[in-house]
Amino acid sequence: MPQPKQEGMIRFLLDGQVQEVRGVDPTRTLLEHLRGDLRRTGTKEGCAEGDCGSCTVLVGEPDGERVTWRAVNSCIQFLPMLHGKALMTVESLASHGALHPVQQAMIDKHGSQCGFCTPGIVMSLYGKAVGAKGADAPPAEMLAGNLCRCTGYGPIIEVAKGVEAEAAPEMDLSALRDETMLDLTHEDPVQGVTRRWLAPRSLEQLAQVALAHSDAVIVAGATDVGLWITKLRRPLKTLIDIGQVAELKVIETVEDGVRIGAGVRYVDALQTLTGLYPDLGAMMRRLGSTQVRNSGTIGGNIANGSPIGDMPPALIAAGSILILNRGGMRRQMPLEAFFLEYGKQDLRPGEFVEAVIVPTPKPDLIFKVFKLSKRFDQDISAVCGAFALTLDEGVVTSARIAFGGMAGTPKRATACEAALVGQLWTEATVEAAMAALDTEYTPLDDMRASAAYRALAARNMLRRVFIEMTQPGRATRVEPESAAPEKMNG
Ligand code: FES
Ligand code: FES
Repeated sequence: MPQPKQEGMIRFLLDGQVQEVRGVDPTRTLLEHLRGDLRRTGTKEGCAEGDCGSCTVLVGEPDGERVTWRAVNSCIQFLPMLHGKALMTVESLASHGALHPVQQAMIDKHGSQCGFCTPGIVMSLYGKAVGAKGADAPPAEMLAGNLCRCTGYGPIIEVAKGVEAEAAPEMDLSALRDETMLDLTHEDPVQGVTRRWLAPRSLEQLAQVALAHSDAVIVAGATDVGLWITKLRRPLKTLIDIGQVAELKVIETVEDGVRIGAGVRYVDALQTLTGLYPDLGAMMRRLGSTQVRNSGTIGGNIANGSPIGDMPPALIAAGSILILNRGGMRRQMPLEAFFLEYGKQDLRPGEFVEAVIVPTPKPDLIFKVFKLSKRFDQDISAVCGAFALTLDEGVVTSARIAFGGMAGTPKRATACEAALVGQLWTEATVEAAMAALDTEYTPLDDMRASAAYRALAARNMLRRVFIEMTQPGRATRVEPESAAPEKMNG
């Protein structure tokens, strides 16, 4: 492993102008840099954990000849993650010479009171105007990551409905590729007083770096690791950024499924996974917010092993295979085998998640996902259940069921499955399988839900599968669009 040659330089475009940053702590957040260093104080800090959206900015990334813009929460973006990208903040809109139309509309429609959330909302709305990733969702969904404590959401939604498309300002990202200047790589890290940031550029480099720094934390979207710094103040010494490893950002069709690289963000996998498993797609639209889905990765959601991560139950039920890489040597396993116990995954020193293979569903597969949380949007699940069943002439021929929130890890419900397979698909069978759930889980008991509530909710999710299959006309779910006006009232 080569020793650092020199300190890496973070370089990005701000309103089209090259910004160079050296000598910072690599876990200085973009929000801290904007407010503390650049005095761009229009961007606000509300929660500092990716929940409220008051810190929303637009980050542009090269995408062939064009730039793809994404709304992200600057409070949990570390500054080195901006390397090679472009940035627009609410101050950038001043180049219009007057208020931007979305700002004027917020005034005209009374979408702002104290104004604290307003810059973040304006940036989300501006993202919609310039065609940012995920901003084409229905207004309530697109704005679910922008919380306002004063104004009723009705006026803000009205503004969102009236946003007119416009071209984003031209930005030439090639200005960042001057080979004579210092760069940010795994050999030239950002070196803070107590932390360093390694940025490999290829899968091969990542494998070497991870092996050489087996105590390092791997960072993908930082939607979780960001909080370890901003909230938990964890003393992380070495961080390895996979954001520049192009091979990890690929979704490719493979035999019997799709292979999703560990660096693929939720928003970029949404269309593919929705096509395979529509219920999974519907759940993903409630996972975090537009800003979180623009940053967070499916590989990160798996790798951190949270018992309440939303993707693992669905991916386990689908029969997904995990691919791990250690020094270039690969091994694979059924996803459920990866989660050993709370906080412990089957990862060897220096090993990392490279990809997950999600199988193509058989035509007769019944696949359902239910996310239960206190708020419809932008909330962590109390229980997340996923069900994959096949029936033949009224008999259950296969069952894969998994839950989050019901144990110290995402966990497959093997006893429940055994109670179903080979049985007639009747209410009696379902009730026996519901009872089996009680034998194989010790649900979490915390501020999101009591253990007893979770156990009951999991049982009732299976009952809901039965009701949806046997009584197709019955309303069993909150439909986001019809629920939106009531839900969005402040
Ligand atoms: Fe709340 Fe960033 S400050 S999301
Ligand atoms: Fe006050 Fe939104 S206007 S928080």
